[in-house]
Amino acid sequence: MSNITRRQVLSVAGLTLGVGGLGVSMDASATDEQSGQPRYVPLSPQDVSRRAYEIYPDGSCMYAMIRSIVEAVAKKDTTAVPHVPFDMFKYGHGGVGGYGAICGTCNGGAAVIGLFHQNKKVRDNMITQLFRWYELTELPHFIPPGTEGKVFPKAKAESILCHVSIDSWCEEADEDQLSKKRKDRCRRMSADMAGKVVELLNAQHTKQAGLNGTAENTSPQPATTPPESCIHCHSNPSTKKDPAAKLAPKSTVKMNCATCHEMKSDHPK
Ligand code: HEC
Ligand code: HEC
Repeated sequence: MSNITRRQVLSVAGLTLGVGGLGVSMDASATDEQSGQPRYVPLSPQDVSRRAYEIYPDGSCMYAMIRSIVEAVAKKDTTAVPHVPFDMFKYGHGGVGGYGAICGTCNGGAAVIGLFHQNKKVRDNMITQLFRWYELTELPHFIPPGTEGKVFPKAKAESILCHVSIDSWCEEADEDQLSKKRKDRCRRMSADMAGKVVELLNAQHTKQAGLNGTAENTSPQPATTPPESCIHCHSNPSTKKDPAAKLAPKSTVKMNCATCHEMKSDHPK
């Protein structure tokens, strides 16, 4: 325990220098733009993934997500983003302070999307795409440099909840939740998710710039299968004319329903 604390103290010191450095360079070129809306600059998903994996030990999942992306944007254009106190996002580890709630890669990814997108519909759509991808994709697929050719277990998280996601992987990998390998899984997941957020931001950037992007959207979003079909009846306020949907108890949820709800056979279709 005291080892970890000492290491964290050291990394905080290192970080303060790093962020201070960034702050100085930004102050030096400070313009009105800096107080305006943060601007996204397209990045390489692979580079950001590698960086997220690298800095993960300094502050865990949420921190690695936010710092890897925001710093990469700032490196390309110092006026594009305001100063971000990255240390703040260490709280996101272990599903918020170890509480096992939302996975820090989801929390951090959504925060970065929120930094660049003030249009609620666009933002919420991107977050849903990211979370759905997280729930339904066999991860991790990031290969840390030097481990090429080595097999690492993959699993569908099934849920954006840290505790459930970790358990899904541990069952598949036959690992203990507190094992070193599980921590490496979360470190690789941070790399995957940082890369995915960059892909989504790149695609949206291309779309908004009116360019003919080839950036594909591979996130599964069919409207006829759960959870989208469930959402149609249960989380959609505008279903007044659909009798079955109108009768459904309303809920404020888009998560993968099947993680928690088992459907009875007589449930309305
Ligand atoms: C066609 C509209 C419709 C769809 C699609 C739908 N539901 Fe429902 N659901 C209803 C209605 C109407 C009720 C209330 C009537 C009842 O309890 O049978 C209900 C009740 C429920 C309830 C509370 C009662 C119970 O059975 O526990 C839950 C939970 C629920 N739905 C979850 C889901 C999930 C999860 C899905 C997707 C797999 C889903 N629903 C898809 C219409 C729908
Ligand atoms: C993390 C677990 C979890 C997930 C994921 C989840 N739910 Fe629930 N849901 C619950 C719990 C717990 C309750 C409360 C059940 C109770 O009180 O009996 C609930 C209640 C509900 C109710 C109210 C049931 C009633 O009797 O009025 C509806 C409707 C519902 N959920 C729909 C959904 C739909 C649709 C989804 C997916 C889009 C979903 N839920 C995803 C855990 C979850």
